[in-house]
Amino acid sequence: MRDTASPPVFRARGVTRVYRTGKVAVWALRGVDLALNEGEMVVLLGASGSGKSTLVNILGGLDLPTEGQVFFRDRELTRYSDRELTLFRRDHVGFVFQFYNLVPSLTARENVALVTEIARNPMRPEEALERVGLGARMDHFPAELSGGEQQRVAIARAIAKRPDVLLCDEPTGALDSATGVQVLAALNEVNRDLGTATVLITHNATIQQIAHRVVVLADGKVTRDEANATRLSPEEVSW
Ligand SMILES: Nc1ncnc2c1ncn2[C@@H]1O[C@H](COP(=O)(O)OP(=O)(O)O)[C@@H](O)[C@H]1O
Ligand SMILES: [Mg+2]
Repeated sequence: MRDTASPPVFRARGVTRVYRTGKVAVWALRGVDLALNEGEMVVLLGASGSGKSTLVNILGGLDLPTEGQVFFRDRELTRYSDRELTLFRRDHVGFVFQFYNLVPSLTARENVALVTEIARNPMRPEEALERVGLGARMDHFPAELSGGEQQRVAIARAIAKRPDVLLCDEPTGALDSATGVQVLAALNEVNRDLGTATVLITHNATIQQIAHRVVVLADGKVTRDEANATRLSPEEVSW
């Protein structure tokens, strides 16, 4: 499972991202070094605008740094073409965002099946939905599900292709505490049972207690990178 001896899943070296709009340059990331180990759950914490989304989008191959290198296992993503990045995302990365982006006219099962139909070695949509605690709601449409349940469908969709990494950008950002905890519990179980390395972005400091390791970004730089000596289960946190 969690294996800090084997090479990291992701390694970022000196990653800098500058956004230029006209004459204005915004330094979203300023030389970030980071590793994500096999099986690890990392919480990425930081104020709004600190660069969290930019960093995770670069790790997931949605964006490229202005400077620096990113490795996925022994492959350098920062040398990939657009086509190679598309294949990398399709085969290796599961994304979960704050808004669920489910297709409203499809049931939970059909939303997950959209992904399993094109994946190389998918699990059945039913298994993915059972893993997030929605085995009894598979034939419901998004409008018939609560926000937390819709987010768990989105997690099922992300894990159904058995990704190497799960990248979650503020997955509880739109949810109240009780519902958010259920979403965190689903992520925690996926990480524990499938060993999927997970990055969980949040600006909610309480959530850091469920991580193996906490990375804090401030103004585009890593200001803290520390393993948690003890972890809380999602059911033990609230906000
Ligand atoms: N596409 C973009 N164009 C211009 N500036 C951007 C863009 N995306 C992000 N930024 C800027 O980069 C900085 C970091 O943003 P972001 O990574 O979204 O932070 P966080 O996710 O921590 O809130 C912010 O100052 C933001 O305004
Ligand atoms: Mg963000």
